[in-house]
Formats: sequence, structure tokens, C-alpha cells
Amino acid sequence: MLNIAVIGASGRMGRTLLRCIQAVDDLRLVGAVSESGDPDLGVDVGHLIEAGDLGVELTDNPVAGVRSAHAAIDFTLPEALADTLRTCVTQGIPLVVGTTGLSDPQLAGLKEAALTIPLVYARNMSVGVNVFMELVRRCAAALDADYDAEIIEAHHRHKVDAPSGTALALGELVAEARGGSLDALGVFAREGQTGPREPGSIGFSAIRAGNIVGEHTVVFASADERIELTHRAAERAVFAKGALRAARWVAGRAPGLYDMGDVLGFKKK
Ligand SMILES: NC(=O)c1ccc[n+]([C@@H]2O[C@H](COP(=O)([O-])OP(=O)(O)OC[C@H]3O[C@@H](n4cnc5c(N)ncnc54)[C@H](OP(=O)(O)O)[C@@H]3O)[C@@H](O)[C@H]2O)c1
Repeated sequence: MLNIAVIGASGRMGRTLLRCIQAVDDLRLVGAVSESGDPDLGVDVGHLIEAGDLGVELTDNPVAGVRSAHAAIDFTLPEALADTLRTCVTQGIPLVVGTTGLSDPQLAGLKEAALTIPLVYARNMSVGVNVFMELVRRCAAALDADYDAEIIEAHHRHKVDAPSGTALALGELVAEARGGSLDALGVFAREGQTGPREPGSIGFSAIRAGNIVGEHTVVFASADERIELTHRAAERAVFAKGALRAARWVAGRAPGLYDMGDVLGFKKK
């Protein structure tokens, strides 16, 4: 049985994690942390997910929250991360970080913490997306720039940024596999007299419609043939399930900064 603490437990991802932990036999929730202004502090977190009493109260004391955990999982806000890192480093708790939008100093903080504790960080924790990314990386490495790379993503009508973080990560790995950078190769909009396609460029298109959870397609097209790889997410539980897989993997590891490629075994020789 692996003891898990959830940091940001009352958020959307936090609640999804609580539900996913309840649904499996090998994980036990031992701590649930939120910020000091949270109106649900002191409440048994089972009530946040309509599961009755689970015997774990929502606390704003991170040390108490993580103390008996074999691994902690953080889905909060970038500003909250420094606290989480300090707590897990001083308590020696392995950590999974799903919080996105980290600044360079915040990323540097992650790297520093990973000198002391094992830490998995991924902007997209979905197992399927990470397998999809590995397939895209292999295609990009095997197909030269004669194969035009285009990335198409679709999300719900409420999403406020474009392209999605996952689409950008896909663009970065295509660019890297071809020895370039997305800053130099990315084409993020086309309208009017654009001229012919720039060889080697990586184009992006974004669809915003209805309640689409998240879809990404990477196209590699030459004059003679075309490969299309697509991932479709049906619901946000995919991120929580991936984070739990990372938590099982990170407990007991040596200190270091790991990603889902490590968790899924893509980096084994
Ligand atoms: N890597 C991935 O696969 C993945 C997937 C989905 C989402 N995310 C990321 O995960 C993060 C959370 O997403 P979400 O949709 O769950 O957001 P959310 O619903 O806003 O949840 C964030 C939670 O963190 C709590 N929090 C804020 N400061 C805290 C602190 N100092 N200590 C402990 N808890 C604190 C918030 O409490 P209050 O409500 O009281 O402020 C809130 O309950 C975002 O960065 C999002 O982009 C990552």
C-alpha cells in the first residue's frame, strides 16, 4: 500500500485525484493540503467528492499533510510551488508536480529540490499523450524536412490560450528531433498572401468549439505520402491516472528530476 498526499486537494485536479485514489486498492490517501483561505479547511475530504468520511481532513499545514506520505502530488498554482518544494525537501518526500505555467525561476526551484528528493514534473501527465509524444518524436527523427510537419489542436470553447501547452510541447520535440528550435521554425498563423510554405517550418492550427476536452494531431506530409498521428482525451481523469502512475514510480527513487518518459520506461537502454 502506497501512502499519497494531495496538494491542491480541493481544486479540479485535486478532486479528480481523490476520486482516482479511492477507485484503486494499492493507494491510500493520507494527506490533503490546500491554501489558508480555502473555505473547506477542516472538512473530511471524502465530502468534497461525495464519498462520505475518508478520515483525512483538508489542512493548510503542508508539513502535517505530507508527513506520512510515500509520495506527494501537487496540482496547484505556480506561486504555491515554492512552499510545496520546501516542505517535501525538508520532510524527504518524493514529489510529482503537475502544476503548469512555471516561470524560469520556478523551474530552477524544481531542479534545486531534485538534488535532494526524487521529483517527476510533466506539463501533461496523461499516459496516452506521453506515448503519443514518443511516437511523434520517433517520426520526426526518422522523417527529414521533406515531410512538412503541421500540428492541429482542438479544445472546448472556454480555453483562453492558443496553441495549447501540449501543442507547443509537440512542436518543440519535432523541432528538436530535427536539430532546430520552435522559436525559429514555428508558424502560428496564416492569413492572406502568405506565399508558399517555408521548407522545414512547423505550422499550428487551433480549433475552439463546444466541449472538446483536448485533441492533438501531428501531420507529416511529403509530396508522395502522409502520416497523421492523433490523440484524443475524453476526460481529465487521464491526467490524474498518469500522476498516480508517476507517484507509484517515484516513491523510493534516487533524487533527481524525472519526466513521464522516465516513468513510462522510454529512456531505458
Ligand atoms: N500536468 C498535467 O497533466 C495537468 C493537467 C491538468 C491541469 N494541470 C495544471 O494543474 C494545476 C491545477 O489545475 P486545476 O484545474 O486543478 O486548478 P484549480 O481547480 O484552480 O485548483 C488549484 C487548487 O490549488 C489550491 N491552492 C492554491 N494555492 C495553494 C497552496 N499554497 N497550497 C495548497 N493548495 C493551493 C487552490 O485552492 P483555492 O481554490 O483555495 O485557491 C485550488 O484548490 C494548473 O496549473 C493546471 O494547468 C496540469
